[in-house]
Amino acid sequence: MQIWIGADHAGVALKDRIRDMLEADHHQVTDQGAHTGESVDYPDFAASVAQGVSSGSAERGILVCGTGIGMSIAANKVSGVRAAVCHDLETVRLSRRHNQANVLALGARTLEPKLALSMVREWLRVGFEGGRHDRRVRKISSLER
Ligand code: RB5
Repeated sequence: MQIWIGADHAGVALKDRIRDMLEADHHQVTDQGAHTGESVDYPDFAASVAQGVSSGSAERGILVCGTGIGMSIAANKVSGVRAAVCHDLETVRLSRRHNQANVLALGARTLEPKLALSMVREWLRVGFEGGRHDRRVRKISSLER
């Protein structure tokens, strides 16, 4: 899968671990930074990854900040993006089954790294259920127009 990832200073260490895991799993990963712990602004990285997903260059995006909240708020401003901030395996599964999330936002300060890595793998594995959820997701898209 083509996956773009990004993080701010709070998320860079976890983002690097996610990138390494995804590459080991044979995904095509584009790392949009940040690459150091120097203080940066999360909307800049959310925008890069979200635009990759919106344009179709990326099939999925993964964003990491302190809580995942800022990244998800920013990414959801970009057309076609459904970013979900998730906290455990269940919210990850539901973000795919019900919401067809195409961007996953994670909190490096709120998640154990091992759980976060499991969440990423699960998020990539689980599919959209469609049906009544498809109607709801289309209603979300209609809010963009
Ligand atoms: C940065 O200190 C922090 O505000 C950011 O990583 C994120 O948690 C914002 O939602």
